[in-house]
Amino acid sequence: MTDANEYSSGLIASEVELVPENYFAPLDLQKIFRRPAPVEVDLGCGDGRFLTAMAGRHPDRNFLGIERLVGRIRSACGKAARAQLPNVRVLLIESAYAVEYLLPPASIDVLHLLFPDPWPKKRHHRRRLVSSDFLAAAHRALAPAGRLRIATDQVDYFQAIRQLAAASEFRDEVDYGTDNFPLTTFEKHFVAAGAPIYRLRLRKVSPPTKASAAQ
Ligand SMILES: C[S@@+](CC[C@H](N)C(=O)[O-])C[C@H]1O[C@@H](n2cnc3c(N)ncnc32)[C@H](O)[C@@H]1O
Repeated sequence: MTDANEYSSGLIASEVELVPENYFAPLDLQKIFRRPAPVEVDLGCGDGRFLTAMAGRHPDRNFLGIERLVGRIRSACGKAARAQLPNVRVLLIESAYAVEYLLPPASIDVLHLLFPDPWPKKRHHRRRLVSSDFLAAAHRALAPAGRLRIATDQVDYFQAIRQLAAASEFRDEVDYGTDNFPLTTFEKHFVAAGAPIYRLRLRKVSPPTKASAAQ
């Protein structure tokens, strides 16, 4: 496996932004990152604080940020370039589309979904990202035993996600008190305000194949 430090220095922000050659085919992640390494994806990466902190901590892993706001894409690319992180790419696109169509099947080690837009009003709940279709697409994109990490400050969104997850092919890992992840920008604000944060860590389990069921 190549160490991130072996890449040439002088990374500039425009090199961090990923503009796919084809928006209708799965991404070639090895070509994009110029090396094979486990890939983590930050869905709705905002200003890239968490993404770049993770990439700095784990130079042996690749990190893809997905975000739909241009200004936040610029912030994230700027942070990655200033920190000279060759293991970061940032993609301007809608998360559900990316997970369904752009992430290759069984390719992603960890999907992070941290403080997704909460849409608290009942009539807006259908705009929320997490649905049974989203979970099915996330399950396809994850490598065997891959994880989907979710955090939110909205208790009703959290409960709805837990219900959807219980009916999916994910298992809640339940005990993850020892996780030590960098704070996201929104998380920093919630922590400072003493707001509760609800977390879920789901592990992909695969349905038994005919061969394994027969054993
Ligand atoms: C509440 S902010 C959290 C940002 C960051 N994860 C954090 O914790 O600091 C939600 C972010 O997700 C982005 N976002 C919301 N819905 C999205 C979608 N469907 N596709 C891509 N980005 C989305 C928003 O633009 C925003 O930057």
